[in-house]
Amino acid sequence: MKIGVFDSGIGGLSVARAIKKARPDIEVIFRHDMPEHFPYATKTPDEIFTFVVPVLQSLIDDGCVVIVVACNTVSTTLIGRLRQQFDIPLVAIEPMVKPAASMTKQKIIAVCATPTTLASPRYAELKELYAQGITVLEPDCEDWSRLIEQNAMTEARLRQEIEPALAAGADIVVLGCTHYHWVEEAIRQIAEGRAYVLQPEEAIINRLTQVLAQLA
Ligand code: DGL
Repeated sequence: MKIGVFDSGIGGLSVARAIKKARPDIEVIFRHDMPEHFPYATKTPDEIFTFVVPVLQSLIDDGCVVIVVACNTVSTTLIGRLRQQFDIPLVAIEPMVKPAASMTKQKIIAVCATPTTLASPRYAELKELYAQGITVLEPDCEDWSRLIEQNAMTEARLRQEIEPALAAGADIVVLGCTHYHWVEEAIRQIAEGRAYVLQPEEAIINRLTQVLAQLA
């Protein structure tokens, strides 16, 4: 069984590795959009759609039976259109607002995500559905994916955004962009004793396992 994992850049690689580790029985093909169109962080959904369609098609042409869209920016803006375009199951990744809202004791969460994700109707819907009565802080992470892709992210830059959210009382930090998985440990250290850091790899693997079971 062959599956595809797609992201604009190395964020998806973190997800592909986690899937390979958990499911050594499946073949995982990772494909990205570097350096052509990365970053997607501030691009419009229409632009991103034209970038993503040929890459997903190439994964299907290569025999993938499921594609994990390992990009919150794509999933939150385009998953409906992409599901109309392609016949195979697409597993989406979106910010973990629901679990964060149910876990927070302070009723304050911080969602780290790209500007395009934060501006998406789906993200607004997640907040509407699951975060009523919860304060949702949105640190300015506009340059994070680029810095991480270039291996130029610093602890100081992370701290600059995470500290104010922690000081404001956030006790859950959501990693709402797969690039941020690469700095998860640094964010955990900054947040230690004050906030829990949530990222979706385990949930994605569970969802993928369900989807594959339905195909079998
Ligand atoms: N890794 C992507 C995400 O999960 C976005 C990175 C980018 O293209 O800026 O949102």
